[in-house]
Amino acid sequence: MISPRFFFAKDFFIKIKNPQLSKAFRIKSHLTARERVVLYRLALGKETILEIGSYIGASACCFGSAVKKTDFGKIFCIDTWQNDAMTEGKRDTWQDFQHNTQCYKKYIIPIRGFSTDVIDEVKMQIKSIDLFFIDGNHSYEGVKADWGAYKGFLKEDSIVVFHDRGWAEGVKRVVLEEVSPLVSSFDSLPNMWWGTIKK
Ligand SMILES: C[S@@+](CC[C@H](N)C(=O)[O-])C[C@H]1O[C@@H](n2cnc3c(N)ncnc32)[C@H](O)[C@@H]1O
Repeated sequence: MISPRFFFAKDFFIKIKNPQLSKAFRIKSHLTARERVVLYRLALGKETILEIGSYIGASACCFGSAVKKTDFGKIFCIDTWQNDAMTEGKRDTWQDFQHNTQCYKKYIIPIRGFSTDVIDEVKMQIKSIDLFFIDGNHSYEGVKADWGAYKGFLKEDSIVVFHDRGWAEGVKRVVLEEVSPLVSSFDSLPNMWWGTIKK
């Protein structure tokens, strides 16, 4: 069995090697250090990033750090900020999100509401998405609804990322049935999957 110390040391080195993510590493989230680095790398050079499920801002800060590097690009963060579909129960996370993402405020456009209800608001602001991160409601119906509502914004070479694909059956199923056939290449970590949309 691998010692917990091994994982601690691995995380420590990832954090040391990625000082640009120091803010993102400090925010509580189920995202591992490695996943945060992947989100940062995928976001480099992307003009329009949209995430469903921001919680208290860890993933938004990974994207924020990438966008800040070039001072170009916008991050659309969709969430109810009511801790919906989360095991720990409902609570207002809006203040925490605002506080944690303060340093990337100029790049972040929060859109508050249920992902499938705010689609018209999104349509008024963007035509396409370069990087799409789905980390909201992980039930099959929830992921399928998010995918169905936003896939029309994707174009050739858009990147799609699904968190919790390791354990959430709904995420696994949507990726397998609906997303995999549309990508030209993909990669994964134990709990995250991403792919590039083909022509
Ligand atoms: C797993 S958390 C997101 C974690 C976040 N990406 C991070 O970096 O830590 C899921 C979030 O999705 C939100 N959520 C769940 N279902 C939603 C829906 N249908 N529309 C909008 N937000 C939703 C919850 O309020 C919660 O904040």
